[in-house]
Amino acid sequence: MTTDPRIELFEGDITALEVDAIVNAANERLAPGGGVCGAIHRAAGPELAAACARLAPCATGGARATPGFKLKARFVIHAVGPVWQGGGNGEPDKLEGAYRAAMRIAADRGCRSIAFPAISTGIYGYPLAPATRIAVATVREELARPGAPERVIFACFGPDVAAAYRQALSPN
Ligand code: APR
Repeated sequence: MTTDPRIELFEGDITALEVDAIVNAANERLAPGGGVCGAIHRAAGPELAAACARLAPCATGGARATPGFKLKARFVIHAVGPVWQGGGNGEPDKLEGAYRAAMRIAADRGCRSIAFPAISTGIYGYPLAPATRIAVATVREELARPGAPERVIFACFGPDVAAAYRQALSPN
């Protein structure tokens, strides 16, 4: 449970979700990788990599949309979070930018539901607590804009991620 009924936590694999858009934790080349990116590319099929290649590159802090191909989701929104370099290299602003760009693209495409992984917190090494605080704060700001999705799911891959989101969503 969260204090905002539009925000939900889901524990498991983001590729299983029936939502209008799932967000990929992408790299600037929009190339298939490991982590959630690998799972999304496997589930969507090879057409996804071809569509990504046509849209690449995407700067860190930005996002691009492709169809979902074999996924249940209509769109994949590829959001590029920062590589953690200690926090003094603009990482918070870039992470915020990735969430904001994904929410705006979802709004532009008429998505009513969107699911996010914890961008940058795996291979890119961003510490979970500050990353989930930025995710929650940015999504809350974007939900206040006209045309924003009505439902946002934070997909938590493992108990540590879920605990960090619960903390970030708690009122105190
Ligand atoms: N569903 C939901 N979340 C997942 C899944 C999944 N199937 N698989 C992994 N995750 C979680 C990780 O546990 C982590 O919390 O997604 C979060 C982001 O981790 P990464 O996938 O490693 O993404 P990131 O840290 O942003 O690194 C991006 O990794 O795969 C490459 O191409 C990608 O180069 C880019 C880099």
